[in-house]
Amino acid sequence: MAPLPYVRVALLVGFSVFLTLVLGFGLPAALNFLARCCGFPDASVTECVVVLYSLFILYVAVPRLPRGTVKIESKAVFITGCDSGFGHALAKHLHKKGFIVFAGCLLKEKDGDGAKELQEMCSERMKVLQLDVCSDEQVANAVEFVKANLEDSEKGLWALVNNAGVSTFGEVEFTSMENYKQVSDVNLWGTVRTTKALLPLIRRAKGRVVNVASMYGRMGNALRSSYCVSKYGVEVFTDCLRYEMKPWGVKVSLIEPGNFVAATGILSRDLVAATAEKLWREAPPVVQEDYGKAHFEQLVALMRSYCGSGHKDVAPVLEDITDAIVSQRPFTRYNPMEPHWWIRMQVMTHLPAAISDRLYF
Ligand SMILES: NC(=O)c1ccc[n+]([C@@H]2O[C@H](COP(=O)([O-])OP(=O)(O)OC[C@H]3O[C@@H](n4cnc5c(N)ncnc54)[C@H](OP(=O)(O)O)[C@@H]3O)[C@@H](O)[C@H]2O)c1
Repeated sequence: MAPLPYVRVALLVGFSVFLTLVLGFGLPAALNFLARCCGFPDASVTECVVVLYSLFILYVAVPRLPRGTVKIESKAVFITGCDSGFGHALAKHLHKKGFIVFAGCLLKEKDGDGAKELQEMCSERMKVLQLDVCSDEQVANAVEFVKANLEDSEKGLWALVNNAGVSTFGEVEFTSMENYKQVSDVNLWGTVRTTKALLPLIRRAKGRVVNVASMYGRMGNALRSSYCVSKYGVEVFTDCLRYEMKPWGVKVSLIEPGNFVAATGILSRDLVAATAEKLWREAPPVVQEDYGKAHFEQLVALMRSYCGSGHKDVAPVLEDITDAIVSQRPFTRYNPMEPHWWIRMQVMTHLPAAISDRLYF
């Protein structure tokens, strides 16, 4: 959330200046005239402007209002994808805050570096376990592990953070059905599977589910269809779950990070090179011929240029996930992202496609 207050302040100032000019130039009189012609009372336009302005002020102020925090002591959190990136950093961060952390690692059984580092903390509160979110068996084993290691399994598990994810790229015609399925298998079905398995424990604690989606769960992008499909799925799954969990007292939040490529292992040059080689090799001849190698190489170079781009620090994401876990009134959606991505997301989700398409594509 770090840069957002600045964007909001800038918006507030911009909007205030705009409003002052508009009011000064007699727009209300013109609008009142229009309202009169439509049969509305004279004052309605001024009232609308005041209400809209108040709502805007509220929107700017709300993130700053204190919302209270829950007691952390003896609460347990389950995180998926703790081998690297956000998950790994979050496991350490929440452990430092005093949580009991169940850190699911894809490569624990293969002695992966991330899992080893967490285990070497040698803390009773850091419980590292093997977890491939695509495996029914490993998820079921994880639930048993959690039950066996909770201080009191009747009190349940306070929070689940569905963080495990993979990324890829490629135009639609270069993306195989297998690729679409593989990405959704981890990002979407992994989230659904893990959530379903741990919900009974979460419900018992009237706890939290925090799903890490992406800004690409709210807006599409060329070259990223398989990733976007999976993250849009996570978004709507989370919304449905939130409605269903309300009567149970479970709060469900979405984290929609922007570009943190430089800070995590989600997109490396090696991954870009390996993916590009596979995409070209497996593309149907007609696609290779029509698009051409030069066009393909240009897009691969674009993807390569993203490696090392964006935020270099995962702190904004960690802060937002932590808020979703500890705040008495967590937000539905958190948008840790650079201001230009936040503006793009607002434009693409609030303005007609005729305008946003023209601006961005
Ligand atoms: N970084 C960004 O710019 C960004 C932006 C928006 C959203 N996100 C989302 O943030 C989440 C974390 O990504 P990250 O950026 O921290 O990337 P990351 O460093 O690659 O972390 C993702 C983690 O998920 C693990 N994983 C992959 N497949 C798995 C599976 N089948 N079961 C369990 N774990 C699995 C990975 O393990 P291995 O390392 O062993 O493969 C890795 O530890 C993802 O959901 C991602 O989509 C990231």
